[in-house]
Amino acid sequence: MHWMVQASRAVTYEVAIVEDVLCPEDPTLARAGAEPGSPARRYVVVDSAVAELHGSRIERYFAHQQVRIGVCVLDVSEEVKSVETALRILRALERFGIDRRREPILAIGGGVLCDIVGLVASLYRRSTPYVRVPTTLIGLVDAGVGVKTGVNFDGHKNRLGTYHPAACSLLDRSFLATLDRRHISNGLAEILKLALIKDRYLFDLLECHGARLRDEKLQAATTGGEDVARQVLARAVDGMLEELEPNLWEHQLERRVDYGHSFSPAIEMRALPELLHGEAVSIDMALTTMIGRSRGLVDGRDADRVLSVMRQLGLPVWHPVCEEGLLRAALAETVRHRGGAQRLPLPVGIGGACFVNDLSERELVAACAELRSLAGIG
Ligand SMILES: NC(=O)c1ccc[n+]([C@@H]2O[C@H](COP(=O)([O-])OP(=O)(O)OC[C@H]3O[C@@H](n4cnc5c(N)ncnc54)[C@H](O)[C@@H]3O)[C@@H](O)[C@H]2O)c1
Repeated sequence: MHWMVQASRAVTYEVAIVEDVLCPEDPTLARAGAEPGSPARRYVVVDSAVAELHGSRIERYFAHQQVRIGVCVLDVSEEVKSVETALRILRALERFGIDRRREPILAIGGGVLCDIVGLVASLYRRSTPYVRVPTTLIGLVDAGVGVKTGVNFDGHKNRLGTYHPAACSLLDRSFLATLDRRHISNGLAEILKLALIKDRYLFDLLECHGARLRDEKLQAATTGGEDVARQVLARAVDGMLEELEPNLWEHQLERRVDYGHSFSPAIEMRALPELLHGEAVSIDMALTTMIGRSRGLVDGRDADRVLSVMRQLGLPVWHPVCEEGLLRAALAETVRHRGGAQRLPLPVGIGGACFVNDLSERELVAACAELRSLAGIG
């Protein structure tokens, strides 16, 4: 006997750029992801840095909206982006007695927190709705807009995870005012990635205004700065969603958004806690820019512009962990992850990309050596 079961699942979720999401009179967050008439109770998982800086505003907000909250404050970092942390939140949800159909979990924090809470939401009773309020730049343009959740496992980045869209993501740029500059640079790396693979105008904006965006933390410090910050954020989110939407479950293994993410997982995990995610992505992009240059895909002038924008954004182009053995192992791991082929995104000029499957070890080693000397090491 034989059955073929076929079903499809419609996915709809909202990503909105909002202003002052914690304004007490604005019901958007209190209502997000819930049907009208749902209980006025929410379980909120908050990044501890955010709780310290914005905790009283969060409490005031929900009090004004007459929503009773349970709160889990989480000390996050890549080291605790783990199954154990996910289990801790799951136990807390159980104690709270969440009504999984009517009380979406709220995640307020950076990419690490959003990824863990997303995983928790997908596990709790097989699927519970959740709402994301990302508070870092990586969260706003990347971790907070797609459908991937995850935790690190056994020394590997995001090795355990699920595809579980949040009901809604509310992107409020004002949280960036309290973020340190290094984490602003970290998020700018993901924006630069999008610029390099598909949006030359976004690259021009970063080239002209990158240092100011970083210094002003994408806030309304000056009139011109405000306009550029708005444009950069909107283009980055729009570009990211345009890439993700047709391939949400990643059945198509050639993904332009994987640019900068071929060697970086291994670089990031080996250098932990020294390198941030976006910093490792930047090194990967610098390396693949060198490969693109040696293949004639990127000319020398454009390659110099790319490296100079990275420096302007406060991003590294090199780290001592980038030795041949690690890069070779990273490529092998990437091939395993991408269905047995390299499917390596490479830049084509600025604003374009192609995929290759024939990167040789010799090329990789040569690009690495060139980058090393450009970085002024040895
Ligand atoms: N799911 C996805 O599609 C996806 C995409 C990109 C990145 N990610 C993941 O995102 C993670 C990186 O995210 P991240 O860069 O946001 O790191 P993070 O979550 O660790 O946050 C960085 C630091 O900023 C602090 N912080 C957060 N908001 C703040 C604020 N408003 N003011 C002051 N401090 C604040 C945090 O406590 C933390 O110390 C990585 O684990 C990466 O794998 C996921």
